[in-house]
Amino acid sequence: MTETRWFRAPGRVNLIGDHTDYNEGFVLPVAIDLGCVVRSKRRADGIVRVRSEDADGEVELAADGGTDPAALDVAWGRYAAGVVRTLAKRGRPAVGMDAVVSSTIPLGAGLSSSAALEVALALALCDAAGFELPLLELAVACQEAEVVATGVPCGIMDQLASLAGKHNHALLIDCRTLEVEPIRMPPRLAVLILHSGVSRTLVGSAYAERREACEEVAARLGLASLRDATAEQVADEPRARHVVSENARVLAAARALEAGNVAVLGPLLNESHASLRDDFEVSTPELDALVEALRGAGAVGARLTGAGFGGCVVGLAARDQADLIVETAAGRYWAATGNQPRAFVFRAVDGAGRIPAQVRT
Ligand code: GLA
Repeated sequence: MTETRWFRAPGRVNLIGDHTDYNEGFVLPVAIDLGCVVRSKRRADGIVRVRSEDADGEVELAADGGTDPAALDVAWGRYAAGVVRTLAKRGRPAVGMDAVVSSTIPLGAGLSSSAALEVALALALCDAAGFELPLLELAVACQEAEVVATGVPCGIMDQLASLAGKHNHALLIDCRTLEVEPIRMPPRLAVLILHSGVSRTLVGSAYAERREACEEVAARLGLASLRDATAEQVADEPRARHVVSENARVLAAARALEAGNVAVLGPLLNESHASLRDDFEVSTPELDALVEALRGAGAVGARLTGAGFGGCVVGLAARDQADLIVETAAGRYWAATGNQPRAFVFRAVDGAGRIPAQVRT
């Protein structure tokens, strides 16, 4: 196999359920039609060479996983090295590959640009070596790559959403069993994504600190994770209180989405934002202002999405009012903060895979 093969992995937006995945809880992400594409060709030697069309630099990695991600200067190259390493650990033969990556996902926006890169590269690497892994194991290998590359102890949501996405559906994921239930998105509902214009900063250390705080409460309660905690048990623990209340909101939101019940869905999103802002303390003044602007402009609900500390907010609106709401909200946000928000209109798409030759443009 020496011809060039193409692979695509989508980014994701999380409708609701943040900072729940690493507590073995529930999340409701959607794979979106912004993504990462990898063009790859097998090499006869044991070298994996990856070049990015969006960022500077090229990395050369040992296909047996011998290259230490932390030793690389090129930040995006650490993800590539992470994937090569975690796949090698799972038995991928040390087959070399040339790859070019390009992405339409904005960096630091909370739309999983790094997970999409990991997943697309992982598919290319497996294909080049004739190596196969079940979807869930591939997701875990990519999650591990992210941890290896960044040192941030992230959960499984982003990589699994990128792999398991389904056209026109959101994904209810149980992060304990890794069971994925696709939930049909009602056609008259528009999901709006607006970028605050402020990239996430310092997310690594704050993220790790939040995760530790959750694990500390679970251990104190004698529980495997906060998934098993009750509202009563965590009533006086703001971080854990967020996780427990958010899990309940995700389950309620999945059923409301399925039923197209916007009257229930909107308030759940709003409560999620309040909980992330007040109990989990991962919002910023800009994210709060953008959420307010969206609601003020007529969105039925809005919240920060992803890890927080910058990036995007997600809102819901009737499809026929979506454009007007986005425009009005953007104007108000700009007036309030001086930041120009960037709006994304997206479709819910299928998960990552090979792009057959006939559909390439
Ligand atoms: C980041 C992590 C995910 C998840 C979210 C917050 O996107 O990669 O695993 O924890 O933050 O919900």
